[in-house]
Amino acid sequence: MKKNVHLWRSTQSVAMCLKTPLSRCLRRLWMIAIAVTVLWVALQIVGITQHRWVTKPFATRKSADYKKISEKENNENVKHDFNQPLAGNQNVYKQKTFLFYPQQTSNPQNTEKSTNVLIKKTVSLSEEKNDFVGRNGIGQSHSASGKTGGRDFYCLPKTHIVFLKTHKTASSTILNILYRFGDTRNLTFALPYGQYNQLAYPLYFTASFVKGFISNTTTKYDIICNHMRFLLPEVKRIMPSDSFYFSILRNPVTMMESTFSYYKQIPAFDSTKTLDEFLQDPQKYYNESLQENSYARNLMTFDFGFNNNDEDNERRINKTIAFIERTFDLILISEYFDESMILLKNALCWSLDDVVYFKLNSRNNKTKTKVSLQTEQKIKEWNFWDWKLYLYFNSTFWRTIDKTVGRKKMNKEVEELRSKRNHLMNMCLKERNSVDPSKIKDESLKPLQYGNSVIEGYNLNLHLDNMTKLWCQKLITPELQYTKQLYDKLFPNLIKRPTPLN
Ligand SMILES: *[C@@H]1O[C@H](CO)[C@@H](O)[C@H](O)[C@H]1NC(C)=O
Ligand SMILES: *[C@@H]1O[C@H](CO)[C@@H](O)[C@H](O)[C@H]1NC(C)=O
Ligand SMILES: *[C@@H]1O[C@H](CO)[C@@H](O)[C@H](O)[C@H]1NC(C)=O
Ligand SMILES: *[C@@H]1O[C@H](CO)[C@@H](O)[C@H](O)[C@H]1NC(C)=O
Ligand SMILES: *[C@@H]1O[C@H](CO)[C@@H](O)[C@H](O)[C@H]1NC(C)=O
Ligand SMILES: *[C@@H]1O[C@H](CO)[C@@H](O)[C@H](O)[C@H]1NC(C)=O
Ligand SMILES: *[C@@H]1O[C@H](CO)[C@@H](O)[C@H](O)[C@H]1NC(C)=O
Repeated sequence: MKKNVHLWRSTQSVAMCLKTPLSRCLRRLWMIAIAVTVLWVALQIVGITQHRWVTKPFATRKSADYKKISEKENNENVKHDFNQPLAGNQNVYKQKTFLFYPQQTSNPQNTEKSTNVLIKKTVSLSEEKNDFVGRNGIGQSHSASGKTGGRDFYCLPKTHIVFLKTHKTASSTILNILYRFGDTRNLTFALPYGQYNQLAYPLYFTASFVKGFISNTTTKYDIICNHMRFLLPEVKRIMPSDSFYFSILRNPVTMMESTFSYYKQIPAFDSTKTLDEFLQDPQKYYNESLQENSYARNLMTFDFGFNNNDEDNERRINKTIAFIERTFDLILISEYFDESMILLKNALCWSLDDVVYFKLNSRNNKTKTKVSLQTEQKIKEWNFWDWKLYLYFNSTFWRTIDKTVGRKKMNKEVEELRSKRNHLMNMCLKERNSVDPSKIKDESLKPLQYGNSVIEGYNLNLHLDNMTKLWCQKLITPELQYTKQLYDKLFPNLIKRPTPLN
């Protein structure tokens, strides 16, 4: 009975509403709709301001004026003997979730536009300074590619990044991508102390090795990407808690062929003529207590902070893999570099322009040797840990693609990336490709030659307007030179060292 009355009443009130369109209840609904809209707009604005704050220029951030750390203090800190990061404190590390945006092929239009604006702004400012009269060469190259359709939703580009730069894995090319991204947005880089190129490597990373770091402060950086031997607690001291962790692995077979050529001078390789000779009896040449020999065995395992001379122990390998998977948001694979760039772009909510690249620090074909099947087998046995890591993360790599973009869309995006790169190569480069170092005209763009390898470089196209030239130059600047440029930019008052130390 009561129920019926209630039903009748509500039916009656709805009927009233319908009868008089401007009645109070409709007006109330209208007010609610407006309030929701206002709230939504406010939230959007807050989101944007927050992002602005995050990407605030370095100049205003470092106003606290960093205390200079003495070289002695640094060295003392570096001497600490760290244990395996795996032991004991595993459970402290929080599970990370993959943050992918499956709907997104390239990047939201908004971000694409803002990228353009940022670059244009930087360039126009340097124009003012240097009296440049550039046209919009960069704008052209950007808009040519910015056509990827409308977006369903919007994500903010990530600017807090930890890249574990592994050796001989195409990581120099990634370094250049990160340098360009941070450079054009004035982000802060955790650069090595004392103008070194590596962060305490091959010793474990320590926060005190970072230029500008003061202990007991909350100084945080946007990007860390130079060579280091990974040690999570120390990385956490200087990087914001929402940082995106990623790294790259390469097949140990081709990798060892490369390390043998590049690090020919290390004690393990020094007295052997060929890789085959070394692999005939590795223990004869390999003395594990010599620090430099870490390049000769399970180098990736070593870079991730684990014991590269450990025996084959499945339980420990599983634990190591579990640690890496928990700590890193993404592990890329060198053999699928373009696919890797697409995954990276999606995970970071960047644009295709942000991950377009020219291969850097790559060897001339002449210094590459083909590895026989027999040698291949021996390399896998000698680098057992690396091989296990590689197999595991190669499979998770493809699973991630399947779970996020899917193979079909991946292929389409890889095509897009390649055509963009070809377009840039034709525009920026004189020879439209890499050249032998002896043919590089501009000494300042010549890559470091090391070991027995011949590292190729590029010549800029001479007929570029100033703005395009600036952009092209960044694409081909080798690692050491770019690191020095960032040093000069972030620490303008530093006494310059003539040549970078390693
Ligand atoms: C480009 O910059 C140089 C200085 O580096 C200047 O001399 C030249 O006039 C500029 N050219 C154009 C076309 O803007
Ligand atoms: C980067 O810093 C320079 C120098 O302080 C400034 O002129 C430029 O506008 C900044 N660029 C961005 C994108 O904030
Ligand atoms: C940092 O804090 C520790 C303990 O909290 C203290 O012993 C040390 O002296 C402090 N160092 C500096 C440079 O303030
Ligand atoms: C390995 O190197 C250490 C340190 O230099 C040395 O003491 C040891 O004798 C070497 N071992 C062999 C087998 O040569
Ligand atoms: C290690 O992991 C593999 C696959 O993930 C599993 O099959 C194996 O049982 C694990 N081994 C140990 C000792 O935990
Ligand atoms: C070098 O090798 C790569 C891959 O094998 C090949 O695509 C390229 O054409 C070679 N370059 C030269 C100059 O032979
Ligand atoms: C890596 O994964 C791909 C795709 O599943 C596969 O084709 C390739 O053989 C794998 N590489 C190795 C070395 O197992």
